[in-house]
This record gives sequence, structure tokens and C-alpha cells, in this order.
Amino acid sequence: MSEEELRVSKIKYGTVIDHISGGYALDVVKILGITGKEKRIMTIAINVPSKQLGTKDIVKIEGRALNSEEVNKIAIVAPHASINIIKNYSVVEKLEVKLPQIITDIVKCINPVCITNSDEPVGSKFSVESVEPLILKCHYCGYVLEKNDTLSQM
Ligand code: CTP
Ligand code: ZN
Repeated sequence: MSEEELRVSKIKYGTVIDHISGGYALDVVKILGITGKEKRIMTIAINVPSKQLGTKDIVKIEGRALNSEEVNKIAIVAPHASINIIKNYSVVEKLEVKLPQIITDIVKCINPVCITNSDEPVGSKFSVESVEPLILKCHYCGYVLEKNDTLSQM
């Protein structure tokens, strides 16, 4: 590590979300419902150099685990993220998020006349046409959602 690099502290117990696409850390933080008022140690690193991704963001949260709904949402905003579970300073589990080909019930269709927005409740369903840039196509009305359409819902 060169002198110009600044290493962010390791955490003792908690979760490190690494390899977040550069610029999306605050969206991840929002998905987790973090306001900054929690009495936890947290680190948010934005646009740090990454060999794999060019630049990446990292979110480290002491004393917090993620549930599957949070992981599914993170896969939409950060499709290359890895989730590291830390116990006593060691990575005890590493999970690469994966965007499924079909996404159900995580994001809503933005077409107001789509059947999923009618009075009869029908769950949302999208096919992933492209991961990067993100393109989701509604199974029911064919409406196309881009990443920004999903971010505004999270
Ligand atoms: N980490 C941390 N605190 C620890 C252990 C690890 O904050 N006690 C962080 C590291 O800084 C890194 C991530 O968790 O951002 C994953 O750690 P590790 O698997 O050791 O790093 P790499 O081998 O670089 O991970 P990868 O192969 O996923 O790039
Ligand atoms: Zn629709």
C-alpha cells in the first residue's frame, strides 16, 4: 500500500458491503434504513480505486446483519456487491449478490395503468433485460424501468 492510500479501519463484528458500483453507497445506506443517528460505528467510502471496477464504494456497519429483502434490493443498485459477514475481525462468510432473471415484488411498475397498480392486487414481476445499465421490463405491461426509476422507490 502506497503512502497516498488511506486504509479504512477493519470492523470487529458486523457487515461489510464491498464492490458497490462507484457512487451508489448512499443508495445502499438508504435501503438499509440508516439515518446516521444510530449508535453504531459505520464507514461509508465513495469512489475509492478498485482494480475490478475502476472505482467502488464500500459500506461497513458494526453490529448489524442484513435480511434477504435488503440483500435483494442491494442486488438491484449494486449488482457486483459482495457482502462480508465479520466476526471477531475475520470474514466468516462472503456472499456475492446476484440479480435473478426475474424480479418479483421488490420494485413497482411505474406505469399507472399497469394491472399491478390496479385495485386488484397483483404482485409486480419484471424480467431483467440488462444488468448494467439496468433495464427491467414489466411482465404485465411491457413498461421499461431504468435504474433511476428503481432508486426513487427504495
Ligand atoms: N473487512 C473489514 N473488517 C474486517 C475484515 C474485513 O472491514 N475485520 C473488509 C475489508 O476491508 C474488505 C472486505 O471486508 O473491504 C472483505 O475483506 P477480505 O475478504 O479480507 O478482502 P478481499 O480479499 O480484498 O475481498 P474480495 O476478494 O471480496 O475483494
Ligand atoms: Zn407494468
